[in-house]
Amino acid sequence: MDLYTRHDDIKEVLYTPEQISARVEELGRTIAEDYREAMLAGEELVLVTLLCGAATFSSDLARAIEMPLILDYMNVSSYGNSTQSSGIVTIENDISTDVKGRHVILVEDIIDSGLTLKFMRKNMLARGPLSVEIATFLQKRREGQANVPCKYVGYECGDEFIVGYGLDYAGRYRNIPAICVLKPEVYS
Ligand code: IMP
Ligand code: MG
Repeated sequence: MDLYTRHDDIKEVLYTPEQISARVEELGRTIAEDYREAMLAGEELVLVTLLCGAATFSSDLARAIEMPLILDYMNVSSYGNSTQSSGIVTIENDISTDVKGRHVILVEDIIDSGLTLKFMRKNMLARGPLSVEIATFLQKRREGQANVPCKYVGYECGDEFIVGYGLDYAGRYRNIPAICVLKPEVYS
């Protein structure tokens, strides 16, 4: 932690690794309760993780959900190396799991414009699942965010650029174990 709080590019630590793991445990317990009936009825749950940002969150979340589930991953891109959403979402690698007749939770690291999840939710619904919900570790409070229903949100955050716990800027900072605000001078 010390190493990172003193890191020149980090403006501030928003959530420590201890806070993050407590919150993820809570989300896992809530999800397990919400899908209990479905599991007992023999229905299956698929966690669809949006790479690369949500990989860290989803591996912790999946282990906090104490019930059988299927983990799969997809690569979508909307950002490139800039800090503004392009609005164009492309699927670079799809899941191999058939979600038809199964429950889906889309796992995302952060919602900014909401365009990625708006697109992905529609895309998943078209595959004939029993249900589609969204779990995001962070949701930015900002103007003009697309209205996507997010059932599971770790934390809300301000309209700043966040790194750590899987979130990157130009591929870097993902391995910082805390959620941090990046100094604006790094990307401006
Ligand atoms: P949206 O489509 O604008 O909601 O953007 C969602 C994607 O943009 C996320 O999956 C992140 O990869 C990326 N993103 C948005 N805001 C941030 C941020 O503050 N830090 C790191 N990545 C971000
Ligand atoms: Mg992402």
